[in-house]
Amino acid sequence: MNHFELKHAELWCEDVPLKAIAEAVGTPVYVYSRATLERHARVFSEALTGLDDPWIAYALKSNPNLAVIKVLQRQGFGADVVSAGEMARALAAGVPPSEIVFSGVGKTHAEMESGLEAGIGQFNVESEEEGVELSRIAAARGMRAACALRVNPDVDAGTHEKISTGKAESKFGVPVSRAEEIFAHLANLPGLNLRGVAVHIGSQLSSLEPMETAFTRLGELITRLRAQGHRISHADLGGGLGVPYKADDVLPSPADYGAMVARATRGWDVRLIFEPGRVISGNAGVLLTRVIRVKRASNGPPFIVVDAAMNDLARPALYGAWHDFEAVQPSGNRMTAHIVGPICETGDTFARDRDCDAVAAGDLAVFRTAGAYGATMASSYNSRGFVAEVLVDGDKFAVVADRILPETIFAAERVPEWL
Ligand code: LLP
Repeated sequence: MNHFELKHAELWCEDVPLKAIAEAVGTPVYVYSRATLERHARVFSEALTGLDDPWIAYALKSNPNLAVIKVLQRQGFGADVVSAGEMARALAAGVPPSEIVFSGVGKTHAEMESGLEAGIGQFNVESEEEGVELSRIAAARGMRAACALRVNPDVDAGTHEKISTGKAESKFGVPVSRAEEIFAHLANLPGLNLRGVAVHIGSQLSSLEPMETAFTRLGELITRLRAQGHRISHADLGGGLGVPYKADDVLPSPADYGAMVARATRGWDVRLIFEPGRVISGNAGVLLTRVIRVKRASNGPPFIVVDAAMNDLARPALYGAWHDFEAVQPSGNRMTAHIVGPICETGDTFARDRDCDAVAAGDLAVFRTAGAYGATMASSYNSRGFVAEVLVDGDKFAVVADRILPETIFAAERVPEWL
């Protein structure tokens, strides 16, 4: 469910016609719906109501816009961060440090220092080496870092290979087969309060089965660790729940997910942590774009050339991802076309042979489900700058990220005087 709907034969976000945003802010522009973010947050929280005090840490990486974080912080969400930059954003948006989880396989010395300095709630340690370093840094400050050990359960998440993280050969976590040995080592270090375990097997999961397998393996590990005398008070189950990208996609619902979690974690007696990203932000955003022209092809369907490109929305080029394409003022006619951006490589293709609303030069259109892993993955390739972001709330909207012009980017560049 989202609040991008046709009203009076054109597409609106809540009570704002998208056309009004395009006129005021220009295109391309990301548009987010506050009501949709809040609805997704509520549905996700309600799906977990049977659990004892779940800690929901929104995965900032899916959409780290400060206004988006603020909306979710007001819904009681903490933050899952993976860099000093994300941590700074979470804090700037008002997330209490104690509700921040710091994940990631490559935390630097400086990032560990700043996490300790800020007093974050938990580090998810991804290797023995990282645990040793974190202990050293914390002990030098007279602290014990609250942390969990991320394990790699060797489960195939059944999603795109580039966003699978739970197979033995992936870089994430410690092998479940070595988890007890590593836990015992780290639990003895003076700078750590190693109190839990964590798992995340991948993103855009369309089946709950691999997750349930991973959680079951985590539960077995908790039992073994406790038998060895370790105190386990927290278990982080990561994120990963998929969202529908096509109108007829059928995905497990947050309620299905909540029921599975309740079943898989029965008797664990821990505080569960969740790191949802896409399921909260994905369908709460669209990329609003204007058709530059429709170009006839020498054979086959025409090219719809839009003013958004792979630098603004990288998912189709990177993962072959599908994003629905819809006209803002659909005529009712359809066409089959390749949908492309202006960038000078063939990879700048949003869709091939797509059956879509018929559009012509100057028309507005959207790529749907662009609220997650959209603006945040943008680059300025071809010196296109960064697009603006807008948040809609009922009948009002605000620019929540300025458009960054190429001139602003190259203002940071220098031509040395000897040139
Ligand atoms: N927790 C950890 C440790 C993660 O690595 C991720 C995502 C999440 C939580 C949030 O996962 P979500 O609930 O959003 O599935 N750029 C890719 C997705 C990369 C996901 C990376 N990790 C895409 O556009 O599909």
